[in-house]
Amino acid sequence: MKLNRNDECWCGSNAKYKKCHMEFDEKLEILKGKGYIVPSHDIIKTKDQIEKIKESAKINNAVLDLVAKEIKEGMTTDDIDKIVHGFTISQGAIPAPLGYGGFPKSLCTSINSQICHGIPSEDVVLKDGDIINVDVSTIYNGYYSDASRMFMIGNVSEEAKRLVEVTKECLYKGIEAVKPWGHLGAIGAAIQEHAEKNGYSVVRDFGGHGIGLQFHEDPFVFHVGKKDEGMILVPGMIFTIEPMINQGDYDLYIDAENEWTAYTDDGKLSAQWEHMILVTEDGIEILSK
Ligand code: MF3
Ligand code: CO
Repeated sequence: MKLNRNDECWCGSNAKYKKCHMEFDEKLEILKGKGYIVPSHDIIKTKDQIEKIKESAKINNAVLDLVAKEIKEGMTTDDIDKIVHGFTISQGAIPAPLGYGGFPKSLCTSINSQICHGIPSEDVVLKDGDIINVDVSTIYNGYYSDASRMFMIGNVSEEAKRLVEVTKECLYKGIEAVKPWGHLGAIGAAIQEHAEKNGYSVVRDFGGHGIGLQFHEDPFVFHVGKKDEGMILVPGMIFTIEPMINQGDYDLYIDAENEWTAYTDDGKLSAQWEHMILVTEDGIEILSK
């Protein structure tokens, strides 16, 4: 649908198109004509949607803060699930993973050689030296948020610590690479360079994703790539960056029994950190903070 100059803008601002996103759309049209991949309007959030997604993210962060306070050696990953489920519900929110594609629990807990989608269990006890990714996602008022952090249990080996730290650096290198009107590929390029420079590999099979109105939206955010490739990033886009970095090779397999949990093929460690990013007019905002 082509809007006229004096029509109301598609973004929900109530402003006239010519005073709002007209120039923006013209810019996108030109880029598209040059062969670039450009985002469609439905993944560009309105001001109102951004506010609502921020509220969801605020609860999601509070859940992670609570886990950070409570997590300790000797507890099971099911104990974490109970904490996350109970607190989320107490906030009037819903844990997004619960029932998502049949996922049985309220969050993902991925330990040591598990790359992602670990399922909380009464049989999995946190022990001294473990590294664990706690991946929490929340639906509040219909709006989605998603973030994850690593935790180190007790005395962790220097090797494991370095992996956890470099993975966090990879996330921030990825975030720094996000520029309004820049390329999506810059994110993956920055992450890949930092990971490989440190002797690690980047998992290919999973990526970040648009988020907000649904759990997983376009674009797929690659954690490897070339800086001048991929979708053009524009103000109003919200997506996660969530690099999974392996100590050894990036090859993986999926647990045959639960059909969810990804493990490193070589049995070596894997780490992951995740933030939700809003692209703004002049840079970015980290929503999961
Ligand atoms: N939180 C994961 C992500 O970062 C998605 C998990 S899907 C689930 O995208 F069903 F396993 F929870
Ligand atoms: Co995610």
